[in-house]
Amino acid sequence: MGHGNRPMPVRPSPGQEKAEAMNAPLTQTDPDISRAEAVKLFQPTRIGDIEIANRVVMAPLTRSRADEAAGDIPGSEMNVEYYRQRSNAGLIISEGTQVSPLGKGYMATPGIYSDAQVDGWKRITHAVHQAGSKILAQLWHVGRVTHPELTGGVQPVGPSAIQPEMDAYTHSGKVQVPQPRALAMDEIAGIVDEFRRAAANAIRAGFDGVEIHGANGYLIDQFLRDGANQRADRYGGSVENRCRFALEVVDAVVAEIGAGRVGIRLSPVAPVNGLTDSNPQPVFGRLVEELDKRGIAFIHFVEGVTGGPRELSGFDFAAARKAFRGAYIANNGYGRQMAIDAVETGRADAVAFGRLFLANPDLVQRLKKDAPLNQADAKTYYKPGPVGYIDYPSLEG
Ligand SMILES: Cc1cc2nc3c(=O)[nH]c(=O)nc-3n(C[C@H](O)[C@H](O)[C@H](O)COP(=O)(O)O)c2cc1C
Repeated sequence: MGHGNRPMPVRPSPGQEKAEAMNAPLTQTDPDISRAEAVKLFQPTRIGDIEIANRVVMAPLTRSRADEAAGDIPGSEMNVEYYRQRSNAGLIISEGTQVSPLGKGYMATPGIYSDAQVDGWKRITHAVHQAGSKILAQLWHVGRVTHPELTGGVQPVGPSAIQPEMDAYTHSGKVQVPQPRALAMDEIAGIVDEFRRAAANAIRAGFDGVEIHGANGYLIDQFLRDGANQRADRYGGSVENRCRFALEVVDAVVAEIGAGRVGIRLSPVAPVNGLTDSNPQPVFGRLVEELDKRGIAFIHFVEGVTGGPRELSGFDFAAARKAFRGAYIANNGYGRQMAIDAVETGRADAVAFGRLFLANPDLVQRLKKDAPLNQADAKTYYKPGPVGYIDYPSLEG
């Protein structure tokens, strides 16, 4: 699919950008909300088909508070309240949401393959829309990064039978992730179809679109990188073959819900969840070119090591920005001024905040006012219950 019918990308011309930057000299000490409104980070835009009220994005955050006993169902009152509180974001990306039972890698993460899960998500998307925000479902298959205790006793799958050096967290505690089973050629189309069905379910559940989780060492990333993919068939070996699974998922999801509602998250240089690549530039460079041809709404780049250092060697993010005509959402270690600058200079169209949104339900207001920020408490990231979930204070009580 080409770009023929697509609205112009969200990026303005360089001249326009400069003029707007000069009109908006917000400094870090300026507390005036009305001046903040002149800063591009806080202005509305469009990402693909989705109109957003500002360019502050809530990054996907697994919180392990779905109803596991009932079938990994989201949408409890507490879950609804958590997302409602953060609906000052221009765009919310949901916590990672498995497309099938075998795609699950952590306790109490929600799914989007059953009708009960879709009904649960409806409560969340409705609350977010009522509060004036937009929300995408992050579609997730963890591949080899799991344990039979989390997958109903089924052995995890991956591109190749290569065991990652890492632990899974199960009800029995920390356990080494086992060796996965290599997916057979004729099984791959079935997984692609799980992503397609999950995307259809996401629209049914009231989401504005989806983010395909292609980052952080999970299944799509496992196919992309030679640290997990040693296949000798058409899904492994050459750069073209390693991109095949990712692009088949994108094509299936685009065919189901339209390119303007589809984005993908990539972390080209993050060696997380036991996954490495000998040379990320060729494979991710090609992937970005192919994604551009498909006219998807955005690529969400984790710049550097997810949640860690931002040093960017191994992949040219600026070149990717130029090669891709959809929106560029930037993430990883952004603070207020860095985010303002990234959007003002046109390096990114929007910035996603993870830990800061987790800890600051009213993050957009705080950024506008340059108010102090709560720090996230890692001890309650995945702890069941409301503490560290819906009790972070807002400025206005
Ligand atoms: C508690 C927690 C849960 C996370 N869950 C996800 C997830 O489900 N999907 C994902 O792509 N990234 C996930 N991440 C990574 C964040 O989206 C983000 O990339 C990371 O925190 C770096 O951004 P930050 O510096 O703004 O926090 C998670 C991070 C944290 C701290």
